[in-house]
Amino acid sequence: MINRRDLLKLTAAGGALAALPLERGVASLVSEGPAPSRPFTAAMPVPAVLTPAARTTAADVYRVRMSEISTEIIPGLHTTVRTYGGRFPAPTIRAARGRPVIVHQANGLGVGTSVHLHGGHVAPEHDGHPMDVLAPGASRAYHYPNDQPAAALWYHDHAHLLESENVYRGLHAAYLISDLAERSLGLPAGRYEVPLQIRDARIEADGTLTYTRAQDRPHILVNGRERPFFRVEARRYRLRIYNFSVDRLLRLQLADGTTVTQVGTDGGLLPAPVPLTELRMSSGERADVVVDFGRYRPGTSVVLQNANALPTENADVMRFDVVAATGPDQSRVPDRLVELPPVPPATVQRDFVLRFDRPTLKYVINDQLYDPDRVDVRTRRGTSEIWTITNADTPAPPPNFHLNHNFHTHLAQFRVLDRNGVPVGPAEAGLKDVVLVAPGDTVRIALTWTTYTGRYVVHCHQLPHSGEAQMATVEILP
Ligand code: C2O
Ligand code: CU
Repeated sequence: MINRRDLLKLTAAGGALAALPLERGVASLVSEGPAPSRPFTAAMPVPAVLTPAARTTAADVYRVRMSEISTEIIPGLHTTVRTYGGRFPAPTIRAARGRPVIVHQANGLGVGTSVHLHGGHVAPEHDGHPMDVLAPGASRAYHYPNDQPAAALWYHDHAHLLESENVYRGLHAAYLISDLAERSLGLPAGRYEVPLQIRDARIEADGTLTYTRAQDRPHILVNGRERPFFRVEARRYRLRIYNFSVDRLLRLQLADGTTVTQVGTDGGLLPAPVPLTELRMSSGERADVVVDFGRYRPGTSVVLQNANALPTENADVMRFDVVAATGPDQSRVPDRLVELPPVPPATVQRDFVLRFDRPTLKYVINDQLYDPDRVDVRTRRGTSEIWTITNADTPAPPPNFHLNHNFHTHLAQFRVLDRNGVPVGPAEAGLKDVVLVAPGDTVRIALTWTTYTGRYVVHCHQLPHSGEAQMATVEILP
């Protein structure tokens, strides 16, 4: 007779699970805990690039149906996820600056959804407003002008009160905008430009995906597979890294301490490449990074780790297995990448205080819960503003390591001026749409409202926070 503890020990040691007879008793016993992680057993897929359903003179037109599918996140286990396009990881939309895209989204799920193009400069009626919900069975077209610099955007669910679970259950996908300036730089491209979509999950031993607290989510997924391996040639790669997790702060490092080169952030390329050994990414942030695997001997491996994992968690994220290059590496990383416009002088200053309200157990902005009928900030198109954002919470000891907040603006990309009065480092010097605001920190950002008028939201991008109400409305008047 095998008891649960022995079973967990066996399965943790690896391989034993598959050897067990598939009896009901055993299956229900096993489902009392998360599936064991067996790092580096699954190959990391590269998300497919979505093909337009039509290319008209005016736009590239895509059709996406949201649907539930069963997929193998952990080899041998079947997990039901919500998808864009019936694939997990969802296919990437590739757009070119100045060439509009129309995405027809059909909701084939049993829950309401709203599709937000995160980082996109789009009209309010196409922004995926939390109250602009697509009911099950409904469909609509979203129009994206792509009138903005090359950047790694993404689209994800934003239906009020549902977005955190919808995103967690799989409604996240990459949307890359490219432009001529970016393409002329000579950065690694084609199959040497690879998205890494990182998120956490809790998958039970029977394959069920459970939506629960961060500290109970032991699995780390990259492109939809648990702690995968990825074969790379001994040459430079451009990694488009996304933090798709709903509320996990990542501190990514190569286990051998190798320096990588960050070339871009949320809203596009950085002015100049930044060498670093750790990438800190809160949920929703993106990092565009060049890694030179040419420094490794073919046959060797290097593991990407999350230095912010809890002591009880496995810090491994994925493994790169280096093989011989198939040809010369002609890519390069120029010393200057892009010219950013100067930050315009601000005429308006505003303060935002983010905190957890203990009496109500809610997350608030300036003491208020999100009310879709209330306008919190009224401004005019063309206005340049400086926002001071404070996290009024205090650091919590593990396992409550998620009292971080961050801040995300719709419509406008911002520039981060300083954190606690100290100018931010070069990795945060580009166009940003999410900024980490750790407990006790005060961050100042500069932004300008351009092009559109109407109502948009700003919020903490720890989605369980914004999903409950840590969100506010900005109304831009003509
Ligand atoms: Cu990534 Cu308002 O969202
Ligand atoms: Cu928050």
